[in-house]
Amino acid sequence: ADEKAALKDRIRKLLKEREAVLVAHYYVDADLQDLAEETGGCVSDSLEMARFGRDHPAKTLVVAGVRFMGETAKILSPDKTILMPDLDATCSLDLGCPADEFAAFCDAHPDRTVVVYANTSAAVKARADWMVTSSIGLDIVAHLHAQGKKILWAPDRHLGSYIQKKTGADMLLWQGSCIVHDEFKGIELDLLKNEYPHAKILVHPESPASVVAMADVVGSTTQLINAAQTLDATEFIVATDNGIFHKMRMAAPGKTFIEAPTAGNSATCKSCAHCPWMAMNGLRNLAEVLETGKNEVFVDPEIGKKAVRAIDRMLDFAA
Ligand code: 13P
Ligand code: SF4
Repeated sequence: ADEKAALKDRIRKLLKEREAVLVAHYYVDADLQDLAEETGGCVSDSLEMARFGRDHPAKTLVVAGVRFMGETAKILSPDKTILMPDLDATCSLDLGCPADEFAAFCDAHPDRTVVVYANTSAAVKARADWMVTSSIGLDIVAHLHAQGKKILWAPDRHLGSYIQKKTGADMLLWQGSCIVHDEFKGIELDLLKNEYPHAKILVHPESPASVVAMADVVGSTTQLINAAQTLDATEFIVATDNGIFHKMRMAAPGKTFIEAPTAGNSATCKSCAHCPWMAMNGLRNLAEVLETGKNEVFVDPEIGKKAVRAIDRMLDFAA
């Protein structure tokens, strides 16, 4: 406990010295989330992380999350220094969508508007017409569909098919998935719901269709936290990374939050629903990068220039 307190103090001091700001995702360690908030940084979903990083005047952003979040920050602010606690923190969606294979897929379907999820590399974004996050993907595809556009979507197949069903858009889907959300199971969720008949079900749209079908609210991490706060219920079953519970419990004290069951047996697998890459962010490596300036995120400027168009379209749409 003493070591933790000392590390936190060191981080507060180093953030000031470096005039750096901490931008964290809800899935990272609770201590990092608290530090981000307390020091004038932000903790939020991917859309807000991107917007906050772009708009903040600090010269250095420390992104506590996964690689694509650091890259997006760099693409939006090429003149800022972007640091990450661990540059190997990636994402199964990013890994499952290599830029060369993706380019070939796009080449084979030149008649389609290319919409990619934020959870992709800079090179994949450079090939896209639009980037979207889970909080706004549905609205953007609905908008494109209304214009008669046919969509090529990558990489998350569950989010893609959810949006497809909701909008009726013509969408050709890349077959990627998130290793965390893919583990949630509809059958087990149904059994759990029988135990908690009054609970509302909150689901991140990277979850399989059988789970999404049972949801009272489907949304980004920020949208799920807002739902926990505003919905008139006292019990919630939550299908997303369990890092979210820290903020959810703070936002809605007195309410009960239950983890949605994952594959295998939820009784024996207490933290299946936690992203191994988000978990690579800790107090120690955060202090170290602030101390040394190592782990800087670089994006090829040519790729960045192309990728920024897809991200700006989303941010303009969201504004
Ligand atoms: P949000 O944008 O909803 O925070 O999601 C990011 C993510 O990686 C979910 O797994
Ligand atoms: Fe990627 Fe899933 Fe981890 Fe989010 S939770 S960063 S989608 S692997």
